[in-house]
Amino acid sequence: MKVSGKHYRSIWQDEDGIVRIIDQTLLPHRFEIIELATLEGAAVAIETMQVRGAPCIGATAAYGMALAMKADSSNAGVDAAVARLGQTRPTAVNLRWALREMEATLCDLAPEHRATRAFTRAAEICDEDVETCHSIGVYGLGLIQGIAATKPGKVVNILTHCNAGWIATVDWGTALAPIYMAHDKGLKIHVWVDETRPRNQGAALTAWELGAHGVPHTIIVDNAGGHLMQRGEVDMCIVGTDRTTRSGDVANKIGTYLKALAAFDNSIPFYVALPHTTIDWHISDGTIIPIEEREPEEVTHLSGLHADGSVERVQISAPGSGAANPAFDVTPRRLISGLITERGVAAASEAGLLMLYPEHAHD
Ligand code: MRU
Repeated sequence: MKVSGKHYRSIWQDEDGIVRIIDQTLLPHRFEIIELATLEGAAVAIETMQVRGAPCIGATAAYGMALAMKADSSNAGVDAAVARLGQTRPTAVNLRWALREMEATLCDLAPEHRATRAFTRAAEICDEDVETCHSIGVYGLGLIQGIAATKPGKVVNILTHCNAGWIATVDWGTALAPIYMAHDKGLKIHVWVDETRPRNQGAALTAWELGAHGVPHTIIVDNAGGHLMQRGEVDMCIVGTDRTTRSGDVANKIGTYLKALAAFDNSIPFYVALPHTTIDWHISDGTIIPIEEREPEEVTHLSGLHADGSVERVQISAPGSGAANPAFDVTPRRLISGLITERGVAAASEAGLLMLYPEHAHD
């Protein structure tokens, strides 16, 4: 997608072979590109959320493996890189998928060939992610068009949570890909953007992305969604996911479950957009998905922009109060209207997913 008229991906290797990312912790106040030079740099970028969003985390892990191979392409080097990157974030399964993919690519090669092949495979993973997200966009667009057809000439209001846009993937996004395509096709749409406390991925990233693309949107506090749904101001919800089980349970940013409950109570379609790399074929029950616990300071403190352009971090709670910070929750499949994948829209069930991915029947 474009930033100030120039096309960017969220991670790329430039003509000099340098791996670059957009530092997402600085958005929306500063657009800064930084270099990933080492395995440790890639691991820290994932841990500190300079890159975030399940598919983007996977792509960064793939490049992290390639950077590791430049320094040590021995078998021990492969194992150490997989172990380091594997411990960065626990919930997004794309990370594990990318590490398995890179390991499988490298293990049969002689050490001297591993670095070159690792960079090629990482680039392929990125290209595949772009294609996949584009297809998700096409299938999701069909759903938006379906709703638009029921209210001719009127605006379709879509609610989204967290950031599942282009910056959370390599390009296009998952939940936002259909929204970009609908807007580009001239459909009248408006997006309710949940701010997504505590890290505000909605207010900071989704709103920034939508604004850059000219998509009409309004930021709301996380607690406003249910109220808007009761008043008929939401036509559909589309969110992303960090891990979806083979039976269709969905782990996504904390607060997603409450939105799904409110949508269910108000008979509003609730869709989850995901690439195949986010499906965990080894888990059925969503309640056993590991949920990342992050620092309490993300809850007790906030950052914001001063009029003079400086950014300051301030405490919003009384000193001494503790805070809990579970980063994800699990939405049970019974609350989900459909899973928008690159192969079509599946029912949120094992049968629904296996209709689109029969090759995983015996995983
Ligand atoms: O903690 P984050 O910002 O990495 O969480 C991201 C989300 O929860 C997204 O909704 C999810 O990864 C889907 S991204 C296409």
